[in-house]
Amino acid sequence: MSDKNFKRYTITSALPYANGPVHIGHLAGVYVPADIYARYLRLRGNDVAFICGSDEHGVAITLKARKEGKTPQQVVDQYHEQIKTSFEKFGISFDIYSRTTSKTHHETASEYFQKLYENGKFLEQSSEQFFDPKENQFLADRYIKGTCPTCSFPEAYGDQCESCGSTLSPSELINPKSMLSGEAPVLKATKHWYFPLDQYEDWLRKWILEDHKEWKPNVAGQCKSWLDGGLKPRPMTRDLDWGIPVPVEGAEGKVLYVWFDAPIGYISATKDWAAATGKDWEPYWKSDDTKLVHFIGKDNIVFHCIIFPALLKADGGYIFPENVPANEFLNLESNKISTSRNWAVWLHEYLEEFPDKQDVLRYVLTANAPETKDNDFTWKDFQTRNNSELVAIFGNFVNRAVVLTHKFFEGTVPMKNELQPIDEAVLVDVKAGIKSIEASLEQYKFREALSQLMDVARSGNKYLAETEPWKLIKEDKERVATIMNIALQISSTLSIIAEPFLPFTSGKLKEMLCLENADWKLAGESDLLKEGQEIGKAALLFEKIEDSAVEAQVQKLMDTKKANEAEAEGSKVVPAKEVVNFEEFMKMDLRVGEIKTAEAVPKSNKLLKFTVDTGLDQRTIVSGIAKHFTAEEMIGKKVLVMSNLAPRKIMGIESQGMLLFAENEDGSLKAVSPGSDAQNGATVA
Ligand code: 2FM
Ligand code: ZN
Repeated sequence: MSDKNFKRYTITSALPYANGPVHIGHLAGVYVPADIYARYLRLRGNDVAFICGSDEHGVAITLKARKEGKTPQQVVDQYHEQIKTSFEKFGISFDIYSRTTSKTHHETASEYFQKLYENGKFLEQSSEQFFDPKENQFLADRYIKGTCPTCSFPEAYGDQCESCGSTLSPSELINPKSMLSGEAPVLKATKHWYFPLDQYEDWLRKWILEDHKEWKPNVAGQCKSWLDGGLKPRPMTRDLDWGIPVPVEGAEGKVLYVWFDAPIGYISATKDWAAATGKDWEPYWKSDDTKLVHFIGKDNIVFHCIIFPALLKADGGYIFPENVPANEFLNLESNKISTSRNWAVWLHEYLEEFPDKQDVLRYVLTANAPETKDNDFTWKDFQTRNNSELVAIFGNFVNRAVVLTHKFFEGTVPMKNELQPIDEAVLVDVKAGIKSIEASLEQYKFREALSQLMDVARSGNKYLAETEPWKLIKEDKERVATIMNIALQISSTLSIIAEPFLPFTSGKLKEMLCLENADWKLAGESDLLKEGQEIGKAALLFEKIEDSAVEAQVQKLMDTKKANEAEAEGSKVVPAKEVVNFEEFMKMDLRVGEIKTAEAVPKSNKLLKFTVDTGLDQRTIVSGIAKHFTAEEMIGKKVLVMSNLAPRKIMGIESQGMLLFAENEDGSLKAVSPGSDAQNGATVA
């Protein structure tokens, strides 16, 4: 364990790929714990650089761009903004949220590579890689699909089979196909720059397993198994047209491997932040008295504990992380969170569906954080924790303190008289609680720290329940003054120590109590609020979440599940179409019509020709419904007509509009009937 006395901290949290929105798994695993830590350190007066940004290179981005018919730049522009906004709205207090397409980053990563190259830190090696001759392009493993050699799943990727989970290399796939052209890829020689990780193995082993025995067991365990398996040289360049060009002669058309440039993104972002705030970035990365901590999810451990530190070592000028408190994964209602299957609670949707309840989610995700093992998020637990913890314990205590002060003392902090043992005891409990929270936070035990915070609120509640000021007021107002003073001091302490966890609530509470000085070191003091000082009116910090709200969320997930199952069975539930705006919708002239005449179209077994009274006119409309309805049964029917559809000729007959029908999954048609009393020409909107 290190006994350095740090004052300067560089806190990084994994740069999310800008190829989709962020969800609760991201918050729980990385961003909320990192934010709690950064906020706590700042409250204690430390110099903190809390760094993040979007990871905008790599195959994940190019695949998304292909899928959406966009350029990679368009994809990252869109998601960078969305992700940044979600984090801001959840109060994640980054000092900078940058991006790896920035100029500073391209320069920084490029120079980093060049320096290693010039110092002979890479091996240049040619090898055979898959190539798409039709697209004239080398193929990343993810761009190759084929049959899994283990389970025969026909759609396995070149790096992994999503059906049985086995790790693959493209050469193992049976009948591999390029996802770009659909053609069989061929092998072709290509040159790359390899970083000889094996040369750093001894150093890594000592640094991680001996010098950092305090690292979390899940992190140390993964590192040990990588090290025991033996490290091999890894290519740090790729044949791809999206990324940072390899700054070396003979490397045209190649880019830096995304996992080479992404962690350097932490350094580039620090440079931009320092430039914007008039600081020097170097101490944050090069000074021994800086503590560097990486917050990540478990899938990123090898990159942050082995590859990036080895790259830092190869450069020679940088400090190494003091700790990498990686978390396990959060599941959702017993299933793995999956972006592609839309099995997630997306932050941008939560913000709309639960306005002003960011702290509730922060609370639930911390209380149930996957710190030592994978954990499950359920909407039921979300509701219970809100109603029986935030509302019933925290909210209730503070509310009673403020409301009773108004009731008995006109909203001013009453004078404290002689303390009784019960008063002394609660103050001692609160102080001990703060010490425990500090110890937990310093060991990255955020769940434990949060539960200790709630214990402080519990002590407050218990104190009021036992002293019963609402009863005592009739006989001993002086004693009640002391009790309310203490309850207000504890509320003030709560407003300070809740800040890292529940920043919005803490802000509201400080405002309510008119608390000005809120340094962490003042927490637990018994004169945070001065006697005679006015406090504000009670405002609700938390409100009950009703069954209907969580049931709606569960239903939403069930709908997702059904849609996924339907898709897996190949059934044709038509996916939702693109959003149209109101103006576009209003352009459609939909009205009620009546079928006056109907006849089959000669030489067609699909078409019927109608004369329709649209209220505007009598017009001809041809419709492909002969397999579902006879001409006779249609006569006299009221129908919905899209009357301003441009006329078009169908088998030589000009059709002047379209009749609307509902199509079932099995292809059968049902009339959309306006009812016999609707007038011809009635508009539909
Ligand atoms: O796993 C991920 O989402 C990566 N984009 C994390 C990168 S972290 C860092 F190295 F930048
Ligand atoms: Zn498989």
